[in-house]
Amino acid sequence: MANSLFRTKKIENILAEGSDDPHGGGGLKRVLTVRDLTFFGIAAILGAGSFSSLGYAVFHGGPGVVSLFIITGIACAFTALCYSEFASRIPVAGSAYTYAYASFGELFAWIIGWALIMEYSIGNIYVAYSWSDYFTSLMGKMNVHIPEYLCTSYMEAKHAVEGGSTNADELAAWNNAPVIGGLRMILDLPALVINFLITYLVYRGIKESRNFSNVMVILKIAVVALIIIVGGYLVFSHGLTPNWTPPNDEGVKSFMPNGFSGVMMAVASVFFAYIGFDAVSVLAEESKNPQRDLPRGMILSLVICTIIYILLTLVLTGAVNYRGFDGVGDPLAFIFEPQNLNVGWMQFLVAVVAVVAMTSVLLVFQMGQPRIWMSMSRDGLLPPVFQKIHPKYKTPSFATIVTGLVVGVPILFTDKTFVLDFTSIATLFAFVLVCGGVLLIPRKEKLGGRFHLPYINGQFIFPLIVIGSIIMAWSLSKTYFSDMFNFDYSANADYTAGKKTFMDLAITNISLIVFWTSALLLAVFAFVKKYSLIPLMGVITCMYLLTGMSKSNWVWFIGWLVIGIIIYFLYGYKKSKLAN
Ligand code: ALA
Repeated sequence: MANSLFRTKKIENILAEGSDDPHGGGGLKRVLTVRDLTFFGIAAILGAGSFSSLGYAVFHGGPGVVSLFIITGIACAFTALCYSEFASRIPVAGSAYTYAYASFGELFAWIIGWALIMEYSIGNIYVAYSWSDYFTSLMGKMNVHIPEYLCTSYMEAKHAVEGGSTNADELAAWNNAPVIGGLRMILDLPALVINFLITYLVYRGIKESRNFSNVMVILKIAVVALIIIVGGYLVFSHGLTPNWTPPNDEGVKSFMPNGFSGVMMAVASVFFAYIGFDAVSVLAEESKNPQRDLPRGMILSLVICTIIYILLTLVLTGAVNYRGFDGVGDPLAFIFEPQNLNVGWMQFLVAVVAVVAMTSVLLVFQMGQPRIWMSMSRDGLLPPVFQKIHPKYKTPSFATIVTGLVVGVPILFTDKTFVLDFTSIATLFAFVLVCGGVLLIPRKEKLGGRFHLPYINGQFIFPLIVIGSIIMAWSLSKTYFSDMFNFDYSANADYTAGKKTFMDLAITNISLIVFWTSALLLAVFAFVKKYSLIPLMGVITCMYLLTGMSKSNWVWFIGWLVIGIIIYFLYGYKKSKLAN
């Protein structure tokens, strides 16, 4: 049994199957170039993370969130290189799922495929909600009023009432909603409609989707550049640069007014902003020269977005004191409001482009999900109907419709915070496994025209980095390591005030202990096996970001994994092609 759980697929077999088309649709069309792939990457990356959740991030971390963007950008760059290595060796749709099949074996592949549903489908729920927020406020600016109960999620309105919130829109949604059979009719209609339209577009075909996407990307880059230029100019001309070192509660001026722990509270939001570069790899079967173009597209889009995030965060936290972002869901428009930089036309422009930006994110993820399911179905882990390709549009038609449902139905009963956290933890988990997977596949000789992950021997460098980090952490705080093993919270203000439970606080200790133990173990393996430095750094940086996740994130994520594993044993384990 243990052997069959870790049965791996041979890379040659995956490649041979990649162009199989048992349903006679003639395979997917190879039309995408490196420029298209870069555009797809940016289309997927720049969206709700920057237009919406950035407000939450800077409110908690202050200007110091820039450092988290840099750390996360570096973690994603290592991961992108690992994705590229896999994508150049295994240029078929399926992304991390397929890569895990070739390295860790079937059970892990299934787990990754299962976690990727979080990234692609559940992540799109967050984007759809944010899209709806901007769309509704845009309509408001044009004097079209959508009743609150038709543009708020049920859960958000319910939590607002239960939690004694003062948010007028959410309270109005609850109080004014028609009641049928005792149930308040509250739903986020714009989020549902955009999901329907995007599903339809993806169903119709890759070429149409690509043209649409390229136009949207150009538009959103242009406007983000404008925000940086206009906002940046005003920060300097209005003499607002002291906002970059705001005083904290004790009156001490600091780039990180809430310390590094405040910055780490923003991990889920910041990481969410980066998700997307990996979506490029699922387009392997539709790109003209996947070996060369996939890695280039991924890395280029990542570099461009990292620069944009750093500049955007600086402009935001320069324009307005970080405390001003409490509860602000449209931070990029907010900084131009009358009480802030006061540029009316920018407010309107940003709202329009936010709607466009998020539409392109929705499009890319909605295209990625069916292609992953298609690969899983080819392997027998999902029913054969998931690989059905539409004879005319050449798209995975059934899987596309199911994706539309998986995004659409939860829109009725989840809320933004929940889906954001859920998406980030699952995606980070998948990234750790992808980087780890690269360590397990055999090295190969260089082939001209292909991406080749540079091999830097990590035998000495990696253990030195780990030891150096331990010394640095200890010298910054002499109690750093002893605090990690201290589970007595009687002196903790949040604990005594009843704001946090024992488990809320303990999970931080536990994740740090797991992190440092893993770092030491990896250092030993790196030394013994002469592992490659880049994937080692990918594993360890993504694991570090996981230490910022909260207890409820872990509870939901582990619950999700358990359900996935049960489904695997009930279906995939028996139906797998490798089993037969
Ligand atoms: N990175 C994507 C966004 O921010 C998911 O919308």
